[in-house]
Amino acid sequence: MTNVTPFRNVKHASMLWAAPDRAEEIATLHAKLFNPAWDAAAIKSFLEHPAATSLIAVAGGQKKSVIGFLIGQLAADEAEILSVGVSPDWQRVGLATGLLEGLVRAARRGDAKRVFLEVAEDNAAGIALYRKLGFVEAGRRKRYYERPGTTPVDALTLVLNLDAPDNAG
Ligand SMILES: CC(C)(COP(=O)(O)OP(=O)(O)OC[C@H]1O[C@@H](n2cnc3c(N)ncnc32)[C@H](O)[C@@H]1OP(=O)(O)O)[C@@H](O)C(=O)NCCC(=O)NCCS
Repeated sequence: MTNVTPFRNVKHASMLWAAPDRAEEIATLHAKLFNPAWDAAAIKSFLEHPAATSLIAVAGGQKKSVIGFLIGQLAADEAEILSVGVSPDWQRVGLATGLLEGLVRAARRGDAKRVFLEVAEDNAAGIALYRKLGFVEAGRRKRYYERPGTTPVDALTLVLNLDAPDNAG
């Protein structure tokens, strides 16, 4: 048995490359998930960057809304994931996995050797997601995340080695 309603089934979502004109929508979702949030102008400049490799998940009626995003970059032989988020209503149905697999496929096509990201060491959901996809710890940045009103938190640098055939995508 699954507790996923048909509407929230991942089959009702589509993955698209993220065009700069979706920056406002991505920023609205980002602000629900992260503190501090990135504003639309910052997100737009990431999406306009020549190395941008970013995806969105969309769902809904005629005007599909953004329910997930992955902001990434692909340059030389490395890809980097800058931010991933999924709308709370749509979590745990595989959307982040789908977005990450999309980035990994693009990275492989671009002959990248590794995918890097940073995640706060207290982000259990993020760490579980990345580990499930084969990311391993490659370093730590002390007190990297400064959050308003709390003590800074270390960042873990995780890497996915694309030479390993079983890794995501
Ligand atoms: C982390 C996040 C992106 C996961 O998105 P998601 O679409 O729900 O992830 P998926 O459904 O693809 O989950 C894949 C696996 O990740 C792990 N996972 C995801 N969310 C989890 C949670 N809340 N607790 C524990 N494990 C979790 C599980 O292993 C899960 O597999 P399972 O559902 O079969 O157990 C989402 O919770 C989110 O947006 N969080 C806020 C923003 C954030 O922290 N982003 C990551 C850091 S940049």
